[in-house]
Amino acid sequence: GLADLCQYQGFWCASDRLGSIVTFQKEFKPLETDLILATLPKSGTIWLKSMVYATVNRVRFPPASEKHPLLTTSAHDLVPFLEYYLEYGTYNSFSNFNANFQSPKSRLFSTHVPYALLPESVKNATNSPKIVYLCRNPKDNFVSLWHFFNKRGSNITNPLPLEKVLELYCRGESWYGPLWDNMLGYWKASLETPSKVLFLKYEELKKEPKFHLKRLAEFLGCPFSLEEEENGGTIDEILRLSSFEFMKNLDVNKNGITPLKFRSNIYFRKGEVGDWKNHLTASMAERIDRVFEEKMHGSGLLFDA
Ligand code: A3P
Repeated sequence: GLADLCQYQGFWCASDRLGSIVTFQKEFKPLETDLILATLPKSGTIWLKSMVYATVNRVRFPPASEKHPLLTTSAHDLVPFLEYYLEYGTYNSFSNFNANFQSPKSRLFSTHVPYALLPESVKNATNSPKIVYLCRNPKDNFVSLWHFFNKRGSNITNPLPLEKVLELYCRGESWYGPLWDNMLGYWKASLETPSKVLFLKYEELKKEPKFHLKRLAEFLGCPFSLEEEENGGTIDEILRLSSFEFMKNLDVNKNGITPLKFRSNIYFRKGEVGDWKNHLTASMAERIDRVFEEKMHGSGLLFDA
């Protein structure tokens, strides 16, 4: 099948991930200085990780440095998923694991877990950490997901038909879905507490990367100086370091293995907006549009592709 999913607190989670999600909910102790990068799978997670990692650490690791950690370490290693708690053992052993790369003063984590399922300590405490959510238009997200499924395990030799995955996707039966509920949870939180939750869109980042990276740095409390903004300055270097072409061609991303034992290169496919046009029939595209229009109705959340 698509993946072995089970329903937990109203969302679809991979069954083998459930124990880790529950442990995360119970045991994670955030610091106010932590930063959490939230996404749905195939929304540009690894891109956001790279950009934020490079931005937050730019004094310790200048983005043009030949020794920059992103040149030799997968962004999935630098910014671990909170819901892989059990794989990492504890967050203390996690800190040992990449202590060389992360600053304890601004620990970076990522998650696919829906807002509703985040522990209260992350959501409502006065000292809760900041959250950045990166959202992608559903049609590209779907196509990316379908490709991703077919690069794993037995699906490589036995690819899943597009129609079958579409059916499940539109029913909401997809990792950390229903996807609309995942998006809307973070969307509403960003409207209610804009100083705590920043909502970004993949398409907007692609279109105006400099503008949105500046917004991001301001939100994170480390705005760029005028000098850093200059042509050829730090912002340009961060954008180059985290660009699709550059990342895709790094040896670590071409030949490495991620903490979840996937080949790193499956995280870099095309990196474009609108690739759904090469995969979906008009009726498939309409179907996704219809489902999301209905679910997003009245929320103010619209998609740009
Ligand atoms: P495509 O399959 O459409 O190419 P995630 O990191 O959440 O798993 O998302 C993977 C998607 O983001 C893939 O989309 C991948 O190619 C794209 N991606 C990876 N790195 C990127 C980058 N630096 N800039 C833009 N897109 C990127």
